[in-house]
Amino acid sequence: MSTDAVANLLHESRHFPPSAEFAAQANAQPGLYDLADADRIKFWESQADRLSWHAKWQQALDWSDAPVAKWFVGGKLNVAYNCVDRHVEAGYGDRVALFWEGEPGDTRTITYAELKSEVSKAANALLQLGISAGDRVAIYLPMIPEAAIAMLACARIGAVHSVVFGGFSAEALRSRIEDAAAKLVITADGGYRRGSASALKPAVDEAVDASPTIERVLVVKRTNQDVAWFDRDVWWHDLVDAQSDQHDPVPFDSEHPLFILYTSGTTGKPKGILHTSGGYLTQASYTHFNVFDLKPETDIYWCTADVGWVTGHSYIVYGPMSNGTTQLMYEGTPDTPTKSRWWKLIEKYQVTQLYTAPTAIRTFMKWGDQFPAEADLSSLRLLGSVGEPINPEAWMWYREIIGNNNCPIVDTWWQTETGAIMISPLPGVSATKPGSAMTPLPGISAKIVDDAGKEVGLGHGGYLVLTEPWPSMLRGIWGDMARYQETYWSRFSNRYFAGDGAKWDEEGAIWLLGRVDDVMNVSGHRISTTEVESALVSHPAVAEAAVVGATDEVTGQGIVAFVILRAGHEHDDVIAELRNHVAKEIGPIAKPRQVMIVPELPKTRSGKIMRRLLRDVAENRELGDVTTLADSAVMKLISEGLATGGTED
Ligand code: WT7
Repeated sequence: MSTDAVANLLHESRHFPPSAEFAAQANAQPGLYDLADADRIKFWESQADRLSWHAKWQQALDWSDAPVAKWFVGGKLNVAYNCVDRHVEAGYGDRVALFWEGEPGDTRTITYAELKSEVSKAANALLQLGISAGDRVAIYLPMIPEAAIAMLACARIGAVHSVVFGGFSAEALRSRIEDAAAKLVITADGGYRRGSASALKPAVDEAVDASPTIERVLVVKRTNQDVAWFDRDVWWHDLVDAQSDQHDPVPFDSEHPLFILYTSGTTGKPKGILHTSGGYLTQASYTHFNVFDLKPETDIYWCTADVGWVTGHSYIVYGPMSNGTTQLMYEGTPDTPTKSRWWKLIEKYQVTQLYTAPTAIRTFMKWGDQFPAEADLSSLRLLGSVGEPINPEAWMWYREIIGNNNCPIVDTWWQTETGAIMISPLPGVSATKPGSAMTPLPGISAKIVDDAGKEVGLGHGGYLVLTEPWPSMLRGIWGDMARYQETYWSRFSNRYFAGDGAKWDEEGAIWLLGRVDDVMNVSGHRISTTEVESALVSHPAVAEAAVVGATDEVTGQGIVAFVILRAGHEHDDVIAELRNHVAKEIGPIAKPRQVMIVPELPKTRSGKIMRRLLRDVAENRELGDVTTLADSAVMKLISEGLATGGTED
């Protein structure tokens, strides 16, 4: 019987080593681990050399003020120069930086030389609006090139951007503007989603009416829809297009703030996660190059995230652009006009790397294999996953149906707070296992500990901690350093606690087990939601599953599973079958007390399942705060379905 902080129940024996061909050409070779092990700090200094520094640092790491790190102390650089100008200077001005496609099918192609002009013009426009280094600029845009241009323009003049996801409400935007005391908002009239123009400007108007710190609103015309207009508003095409395309990038200190990004977590006021320049860009660049095996001359890389999330910051803007990548950016939803839109885009642009989230992968599984089959996906050579644990069956589907069994999969664990990828296979080196993020990247030190903070051995589960500072780590929570210390550094002394459960398997691979707040306690066994969900998804009838613990008189908590069936798999015995399946896969202790068949699951805007709301349902409680729920109709659907049955026992 396991006494682990989080038990290790699910076992996986499939291995997928890289092909000899991939391994031979890979950017990352096995020696990278040895290099980092030999001297971690020196290793990071050699990665910082990937960038162009105006002045070299005097000290690689200053940890004397822990837990606030300073990396590459005394070094000076301009982040936008590193992402744009230096590629033009090196002779790659004609290389495409962005292939952009709008949801209606309109396209733009922007080379690095053009990007340099656009970013310079936008930087000059910001200066004309009175923005200077250190000022905060809120960016609330759809997935259009101006989102990246605006971020880079801020970086160029040392302004601190705070990108707010375009799907968030006026109130979410207002509270983020207020917390950062932003002076400017950059937005658009609207963007295209699900086949029609969806407005952004009204939410900005409402937010800015209640935001005394905002002086001006810069508005990109995207949809041409009617907008209310105020004295503070200025059109992007009037102001930016009229600027000079020459702007000398100013070098900033390595620790100059680059951006704030708000992350809500499960409870409480959103935290403004602060990132700075030199260390952040070093790790974004290093990880993008090695984890995605990026070949700037030949690859067409596509990350499907929104720029409103950290994935869009690090793996659309800063990582890829610092590496001179050619990438695809897509504005809309995956099912417009049909459920094969993504696959058609991959074929059309000959995409080589695809980086997306498990929630998207499971949705495509649910829709069926006929949609990817409509397109030729043979240009793909690597697949990435981020945002949640990927269930082994979803991983296998990704590998077989999207990757045609010949693309390495990189399951990348990281957080808004870590700034860049921390745990991931190296695609030409690691023999991957479906569902495991494998091992810490060279330069990163992660451990798994028990309640007392003691390291657990192979085959055991516990809490994931990071034991050494890393270059792209957050430098704090904007305006609340006490909360920074309390949230991340108080649970285990001198170690960063990520909030995730994890286990080592017998061979030393790491398996992420979900947020520890979600861990269930059944008869004294701490069971991870991820493992039970993965067992459910491994049944052919199941498309998606979410499990929670609900109060149980006998066992403390009982496992309640919410399950979406695949089309055509509804039948009378399915609930009993699923309960037995879990018992068989991971043991009787994990057999769900109840299985509820539901049409949808409650998710955040970034696709994470909101187990907190499902716990409310399982406990027959009033629903808690639903403001971060992506689709507010979902909870109604779930409770209505339950009122008409669907549970056993
Ligand atoms: C949390 C961070 C990292 C960018 C997107 C999410 C979960 C993230 C994985 C993964 C298992 C993962 C963790 C983490 N998570 N990637 N590969 N395997 N879990 O950023 O919104 O800050 O969320 O997402 O629980 O703590 P975020």
